[in-house]
Amino acid sequence: MLTTLAIANYRSLRELIVPLGSLNVITGPNGSGKSNLYRALRLLALTARGGVIPSLAREGGLQSTLWAGPERFSRAVSAGEHAVQGTVRKDAVSLKLGFAGETFGYAIDLGLPPPASTSQFALDPVIKRECIWSGPILRPSALLVDRQGPMIRIRGEGGGRGGSDDWTTLAQPVASFDSMMTEFADPRSAPEMIAVREQIRSWRFYDHFRTDVQAAARQVQIGTHSPVLSDDGANLAAALQTIREIGDGAALDAAIGDAFPGARAEIVNHEGRFEVALRQDGLLRPLRGAELSDGTLRYLLLAAALLSPRPPALLVLDEPETSLHPDLLPSLARLIARASTQSQVLVVSHAPRLVAALEREAGSQSIVLERRLGATALADEDAHDVPAWKWPSR
Ligand SMILES: Nc1ncnc2c1ncn2[C@@H]1O[C@H](COP(=O)(O)OP(=O)(O)OP(=O)(O)O)[C@@H](O)[C@H]1O
Ligand SMILES: [Mg+2]
Repeated sequence: MLTTLAIANYRSLRELIVPLGSLNVITGPNGSGKSNLYRALRLLALTARGGVIPSLAREGGLQSTLWAGPERFSRAVSAGEHAVQGTVRKDAVSLKLGFAGETFGYAIDLGLPPPASTSQFALDPVIKRECIWSGPILRPSALLVDRQGPMIRIRGEGGGRGGSDDWTTLAQPVASFDSMMTEFADPRSAPEMIAVREQIRSWRFYDHFRTDVQAAARQVQIGTHSPVLSDDGANLAAALQTIREIGDGAALDAAIGDAFPGARAEIVNHEGRFEVALRQDGLLRPLRGAELSDGTLRYLLLAAALLSPRPPALLVLDEPETSLHPDLLPSLARLIARASTQSQVLVVSHAPRLVAALEREAGSQSIVLERRLGATALADEDAHDVPAWKWPSR
């Protein structure tokens, strides 16, 4: 489980350290940085899948995603006596993302290529530093795998671990755009890197499922075993059927009956092509995917995501309440709370009923964000035990 999430210089997250529990509810006013936090986590997940640089480029490049405020605020600005004024940048451009749990931590530091570069990819961010350490805080003696520019070094094998200073530098340098986690995969010399990578690769993100008439979830789709609902919900029917066959089908029926009394999901099988349908009280035939209301379809999608028979290490939902009637929110909260017994869960939400229902669950913690001088901050910092965090230096 992650206990700390740390982000620096990513959009409005100038320097944010967030303590995490098993069920985390993130709220705050419009523009406070909730979606930025969600996106930062997703970027972090992409480092282990090899997509962090293209994803940053799609967001407008490093220059656009970097914190747009000054590097530091003078005391007069913080006290409200002066407006923020432009200054010359003193520090190197540095977007940093990291997390830590009880056993391992990971951080990545992205910057710009040297100015003299003649490459056509001069706008591509480069990975300057990556570290994996043992325990919740980065200390020199806890470092296990350390990437500095193109070089990766690993703390000595076998008996050499646990504070010893014999390091092995890998002969093969890594490219500036590749994370050490995608490039290096020898489980014998760096088992913790594989452990961290596999953990990150299992993280799952769901935001704003499409439910319009063209939405993939409404269409008939080839049905194969689907323990994981895809990002766009295209395999909804197969995912529901998989829950019925190898997962907790009773919980699925209960969740649907809970939200729509008397209703039951059915999977129509057209010779291997699956379609979702809902049998409802008072109707002579089940309603097909194309006939379901937006809210009904979205609830089915969320149920399929939350009841996955292969729960991820971390499940992140951005505004799952969208287009759901407030009366459905307590049922959704129960599904989320159930998922949080098997996965660590982060929910970004605006819906007071969902937030209130989730906050009543054991183990839940609410994280309220606000903006101070344009930067996202924890609203009641004193109420949290903000964990200690140390970034690797360049
Ligand atoms: N590069 C940047 N530097 C500083 N601030 C930025 C940068 N890019 C975006 N922002 C700010 O981040 C805020 C957007 O945050 P975000 O989208 O996370 O809000 P939100 O909390 O999800 O709001 P909503 O509830 O409306 O969805 C905007 O106010 C925007 O001004
Ligand atoms: Mg948002």
